[in-house]
Parts: sequence; structure tokens; C-alpha cells
Amino acid sequence: MKSFKGKVAAITGAASGMGRTLAVQLAREGASLSISDVDTKGLTETVKLAKSAADEAGHDIKITSQELDVSSRADMYAWADKTAKDHGKVNLIFNNAGVAYATPIEDIDYDKFDWIMGINFWGVVYGTKAFLPYLKASGEGHIINTSSLFGLCAQPTQSTYNATKFAVRGFTESLRQELDFMNCGVSATSVHPGGIKTAIARKSVASPAIEKFTGTDAESGKAFFEKFFITSAEKAADIILKAVKGNKRRVLVGPDAVAMDAMVRALPESYQAIIVGQMKKMRDKQLARKKKNTAAAKETQKA
Ligand SMILES: NC(=O)c1ccc[n+]([C@@H]2O[C@H](COP(=O)([O-])OP(=O)(O)OC[C@H]3O[C@@H](n4cnc5c(N)ncnc54)[C@H](O)[C@@H]3O)[C@@H](O)[C@H]2O)c1
Repeated sequence: MKSFKGKVAAITGAASGMGRTLAVQLAREGASLSISDVDTKGLTETVKLAKSAADEAGHDIKITSQELDVSSRADMYAWADKTAKDHGKVNLIFNNAGVAYATPIEDIDYDKFDWIMGINFWGVVYGTKAFLPYLKASGEGHIINTSSLFGLCAQPTQSTYNATKFAVRGFTESLRQELDFMNCGVSATSVHPGGIKTAIARKSVASPAIEKFTGTDAESGKAFFEKFFITSAEKAADIILKAVKGNKRRVLVGPDAVAMDAMVRALPESYQAIIVGQMKKMRDKQLARKKKNTAAAKETQKA
């Protein structure tokens, strides 16, 4: 797909972050949009931003929006049907909605594990299958599934997120091969962002038990992780859309994703020991800082 002008793009998780910037950039390039999210307030704002981006660029596009929980199979299929009905065709589905859950494996809450699997993995499967017939019918279709850098390498406290994102990668790589095999006019790309400046860490669920690994409480841990988010959501959308135009099988988003991917391929086993070493160093630094602060607070109390 060399141009998005006149195409119809469906995006899940479009109320915030990369879903929103994808919507705005696609609108700027003349694509009509069907966007969805559980956050209806955020969706309304995305519609406004996308509409003014299209207006500024002189494109007359149609934008529809829908409250949708991607973990509901029935609702996803109903939304795909509605999108095709409202827009007459669908060319692109961005299965982008996602959530994060940080916890040591010993402390996993099975309900939360089901929750993250439902959104990050099943949401992608439902979105792919519900839209595929419409993409085939359009004659020029593309499925863009958001995995992660954590679909390429694992990290302590991220086992449930890692499991969902490795699964999305495997599912999407198999999907791409089947689509190539069938030569049916539809393609697929697996997206692997590194740290992108979005709301995902702030909105994540973190078990208090991560303190064993981070040396900080769950809330400070989220802020700590955010320091590693170096790429803007606008830049991420730009990289993703270029990859779709280039018909890439996978796309690494951000210099951290590129560097980590190279490390994992060069050191497929020992990268794990390197991560453990780095994490221990960071935890020890946090603990030392905490000790210093406690001692300083005691001194102030005495005085
Ligand atoms: N930000 C990063 O550093 C990063 C890195 C790698 C991968 N990712 C992935 O990128 C994707 C987009 O995340 P983001 O960083 O833009 O985060 P974000 O939190 O800004 O956006 C995620 C969106 O998904 C929506 N969402 C959550 N649960 C949903 C549900 N059940 N149904 C429908 N929508 C739901 C949220 O309301 C939100 O609008 C996610 O799949 C995420 O895992 C993000």
C-alpha cells in the first residue's frame, strides 16, 4: 500500500498514545477512520484532532468512533461489520489497544493474567479474524498488530506482558506467511515499539511485590520505568506507517528497540544475565537512596 489517501483504517485503543497519533497521521494523509477504545472521552478528543488534521491537509474524510472492549469477541465482530457498513470497505486494521501488568511470577493474580491476555493477545486475534474478510474484499488490505520490544526479549516482572507480546509476534509472523502463501491482497506487520512516551506505564497495574526487583514501591516504579521512554508517540506513528507502506514483516520502533533486538540476536542466552545484572544494580541504587533518605529524615527529627 503506497498511499493511505482514500483508504479506510480501523484502529483499536485510539483514545490515547500511539493509537491517537496513528489516527491523526492517517487522517492527515487522507484516510477515513473507524476508531475505537474503552475510553470514550479520549476517543472524542482523537476524533477532533484527526478531523482538524484532515481539514488542514485539505482532505474530506469520514470518521466514525465506537466504544469497544477488544477482549469481547462478539463486540469486535460487531464493530468490524459496522465499520464495513458505515465506510463501504476496510483496508487497514491496527490492533493497537494494550495494557501492562508488572508482577513477579510468584505473585501473579490469575484474574489479572486473564485480563491482560484478553486485551493484548485475544484482542489482536479477534481484530485480525473479524476484519480479515473485509480486508480481502477490499483488494488492498493490511493488518498491523502491536507486539513490543518485550515480544523480542523478556524481563523480570514482565512475564504476563512478555507472554502476550511474544504470542502476538508468533501469531502475526504466521499470519503474514499464510497471507503471502495465499497471495490474497492482504499483508501483515508485527510492530515492536521500545519505550514510547505514552500513558501506558501510568495506567499499568503493578503488584506491590515488584519492590523486590525494583527497590521502589509500585507507583515510584512506574515513574522510574517512564524514564526509559525516549521516543515520542508521533515519531512512533511515523515509523509504523512507513513500515506499512514498505510492506515490512516487522518494524522496530525507536533506537532502544533496535539496540535490544541486536543484543538479543547476538547474545540469545546471555542477554538474560545482562538484564538481571543491570536490574540488580538499579535496585541496589534505589535501596541505597532510600536508606540515605531515611537516615537524613531521622537526623532532621533529632534536630
Ligand atoms: N508505550 C510503550 O512504551 C509501548 C512499548 C511497546 C509496546 N506498546 C504497545 O503499544 C500499544 C499502544 O499503547 P500506548 O503506549 O499507546 O498506550 P496508551 O495507554 O496511551 O494507549 C492504549 C489505549 O488502549 C486502550 N485500551 C485499554 N484497554 C482496552 C480495552 N480492553 N479495549 C479497548 N481499548 C483498550 C486505552 O484506553 C488506551 O487508549 C499497546 O499494545 C502497548 O502494549 C507500548
